[in-house]
Amino acid sequence: MMWARTIVAVMLLLATCAGRAAGIPQSQRRSGFSFMTPDTQAMQNEDTANPGMLWVLDGEALWNSNAGSSGKACADCHGEARASMKGVAARYPAFDKALGRPVNLEQRIDLCRSQNQQAPPFAYESRVLISVQS
Ligand code: HEC
Repeated sequence: MMWARTIVAVMLLLATCAGRAAGIPQSQRRSGFSFMTPDTQAMQNEDTANPGMLWVLDGEALWNSNAGSSGKACADCHGEARASMKGVAARYPAFDKALGRPVNLEQRIDLCRSQNQQAPPFAYESRVLISVQS
């Protein structure tokens, strides 16, 4: 019964993983930051040295610039992104009632582009789309 043995092995593996995650006391949990080399930590601490921030700055400029025939910026409707977009990424993919199908965050942003801003959608996985999400 090869398959039965495989199932038992998988179940044992799952039980071990679950046990391990639950077994780490809150006080001993560490952020990935603590495993980085001092160089990488320094880069993370300094916004201007972190290449990832270029994407964020790009997104911020885009967030505030008017586009499409609505002449509106994301900020005009959504205000400060730090507040209005907090936790949004975690909710996607989500079911879109109007479309009757699930959409991911990129598609959700493009719906806003096309319907609310009346601007052409961003190319899928384009630089701007990724920078808006950072
Ligand atoms: C004219 C107003 C308007 C503009 C401009 C606009 N949005 Fe939206 N957005 C909305 C509304 C209203 C919703 C709620 C869903 C709906 O009915 O479209 C929404 C929903 C969203 C959501 C989903 C939020 C959630 O809680 O699930 C995201 C993400 C989003 N917009 C991003 C953007 C981005 C990025 C831009 C700029 C490129 C933008 N929006 C421009 C009005 C706007």
